[in-house]
Amino acid sequence: MEPRLLLHLTDEQREIQRVARDFAHREIAPYSRDWDRDGHFERSLVAKFGELGFLGMLIPEQYDGLGLDTATYLVALEEIATVDAAVAILMGVHNSLPTQMILRWGTEDQKQRFLRPMARGEYLGAFALSEPEAGSDAASLSTQAVRDGDDWIITGTKAWVSHGDAADVIIVMARTDTPDARHGAKGIGAFIVTPDLPGFKVGKHEDKMGMRASPTVQLSLEEMRVPGDRALGDIHRGFVYALQSLDNGRLGIAAQSIGIARAAFEHSVKYAGERRQFGAAIRDYEAIQFKLADMSTRVTASRALLHATAAAKDRGERITQFSSMSKLLASETAMWVTTQAVQIFGGYGYVTDYPVERLFRDAKVTEIYEGTSEIQRLVIARELYSTT
Ligand code: CAA
Repeated sequence: MEPRLLLHLTDEQREIQRVARDFAHREIAPYSRDWDRDGHFERSLVAKFGELGFLGMLIPEQYDGLGLDTATYLVALEEIATVDAAVAILMGVHNSLPTQMILRWGTEDQKQRFLRPMARGEYLGAFALSEPEAGSDAASLSTQAVRDGDDWIITGTKAWVSHGDAADVIIVMARTDTPDARHGAKGIGAFIVTPDLPGFKVGKHEDKMGMRASPTVQLSLEEMRVPGDRALGDIHRGFVYALQSLDNGRLGIAAQSIGIARAAFEHSVKYAGERRQFGAAIRDYEAIQFKLADMSTRVTASRALLHATAAAKDRGERITQFSSMSKLLASETAMWVTTQAVQIFGGYGYVTDYPVERLFRDAKVTEIYEGTSEIQRLVIARELYSTT
């Protein structure tokens, strides 16, 4: 039904896509509505994803991962997101951010202690950059890390941390410069934090419009003592590591957005064939046909850009600009397509009996998290100036 231009999947990719789709329909779809209504995070999915290898998709086999390419990971993520985008957050954040940061900048000891169990799905990973007063301007964060012998003492509040209450390993960005000698983006470190550290506390749980099956929390770090061997890489380069990792993370958000948009499109096609008004199925009317044509075009364009970007990443090219473009296009597509879907369903699109209202609510945050649409435009524009 849906055009798949530019996506020539290998046999292995098709098989992983099938595994992801079957898993999503068996283990997630029957419960999605309840999880959304109740704001329930299904922790057992972590081990189940782990068994499939889906929490180590981009981690080399030597660290117990599957060692797959980016496109294969995104194909699997889209399948999960098509069924439940909130569940896809678990998979997306873990694969794109904390595991990649440890893989890229961690010591061998950190990889053995944290990355291996993360790849197997024994530890769930999270990422803590934002703060109540530092969102788009992430470098203005104020959580402070202070040296105490070999340890670091970290104090501050991190905000908008996806599954920060359920994670076993959280990469926390904190200032490593001092209040009397601030160095902006060059005075921030990244630390491997576990919830057993003294001073670690989960704070406010957000009550969200959408993605309700994925918890979002604040973390209150009160003189949290972090052993020195938990610092990642250069203690003043944590912000650069975080932004570089967000280049990957934004590809995951794009795949998730495409999943949401695709689901809204597929529900709309089906409904438009069944719903009759004025003596005919509504899909026979041009007003609906044109909507479906535009929805399909935008989903296909978003996927084509995303997969071209994934291929560039795997060739080792710098993808900052294309990653932001992929996230921008896909997330605005998700919001637009779900808006059209609600319109096609009419009153039924506005109530919880049908799935499109959830898709509409879930879509909104893709234009906000891992960098708002405005920040994506800023990144794209900056890269334009630096290359012209
Ligand atoms: N790759 C590599 N390095 C990069 C980079 C990238 N993509 N982007 C920036 N850098 C480097 C810069 O070169 C610079 O390094 P040098 O000083 O050595 O030259 C350094 O990082 C600082 O960069 P900027 O000067 O560009 O920093 P800035 O303060 O102007 O901010 C910004 C740039 C793009 C606005 C950035 O702050 C940003 O992306 N903001 C949005 C934050 C965001 O996405 N937050 C989401 C948090 S995660 C989340 O949503 C929740 C969750 O659970 C997943």
